[in-house]
Amino acid sequence: MIRCKTKMELRDVLADWRRAGERIGAVPTMGALHQGHLSLIAAAKKLSDRTVATIFVNPLQFGPNEDFDTYPRDMDRDLEMLKARGCDLVFAPERADLFAQDFSTKISVAGVGEGHCAKTRPQFFDGVATIVTKLLMILAPDVAVFGEKDYQQLTVIKRLVRDLDIPVEIIGAPIIREEDGLAMSSRNQYLTSPERAAAPVLFETINLAADKFIDAGSGWSKIHDWAAAQILKAGFSKVDYLNMVDADTLTAIDKPDRPARLLAAAWIGRTRLIDNIAVSPPDSA
Ligand code: PAF
Repeated sequence: MIRCKTKMELRDVLADWRRAGERIGAVPTMGALHQGHLSLIAAAKKLSDRTVATIFVNPLQFGPNEDFDTYPRDMDRDLEMLKARGCDLVFAPERADLFAQDFSTKISVAGVGEGHCAKTRPQFFDGVATIVTKLLMILAPDVAVFGEKDYQQLTVIKRLVRDLDIPVEIIGAPIIREEDGLAMSSRNQYLTSPERAAAPVLFETINLAADKFIDAGSGWSKIHDWAAAQILKAGFSKVDYLNMVDADTLTAIDKPDRPARLLAAAWIGRTRLIDNIAVSPPDSA
């Protein structure tokens, strides 16, 4: 596995692969890899001849009081995991290689980049959209794979690629869960053991809430209140949101009459967990 620390090193390797007619698949990450990330590598490998992972903890997507400094970092472990999965190249740049001192451009995606996570993390999607645009320009991959775990992020990335005519296919890969249903996340490492024991309630509850919504045929707000109470009763300290939305536009819906997504974010201790599930209209089953 090749490791590139600079754009210059990377460009030479990619140019060789392109000259040889090879299809390039990209998996952007912030490191602290787990099975969820490895499933993205497996998906990219199926869709390309050469798989490139990026590891960069992107300062632009963290707010001033968020966990940029303490975000888990373990480059040696990440490299071993990627090598074992047959990743061909890792691009792990230093901040100075990506950002000029007077870097001043921002990519902002209105609509799908608003609400939900953006309500409590107002800088997040501009930060993601800006770094992902840069990585897609630098790598120019044929295909790039992102997890459905960050469903709003995936939607924002699909939208910016479409709007800016970036010639890459964006693929969403399914959420990988622990045996008890908790969605895998690098931030799960922050959970204490009682928090870890309570954490699967988020997934359990959104499943039950989605079933209730389908059965009721309308009226998300009542089911929302029931679900939020269940999550708080299990030991979560705050529910950021539980939003039933159209799966493409992420706008609120009140009837299960089209493909929908139930998006959720809640705090347990000092950890904010996000999750989501697909909600299909009853006659599509
Ligand atoms: O999902 C992530 O790990 C990050 O938000 C991403 C897409 C790599 C951008 O920094």
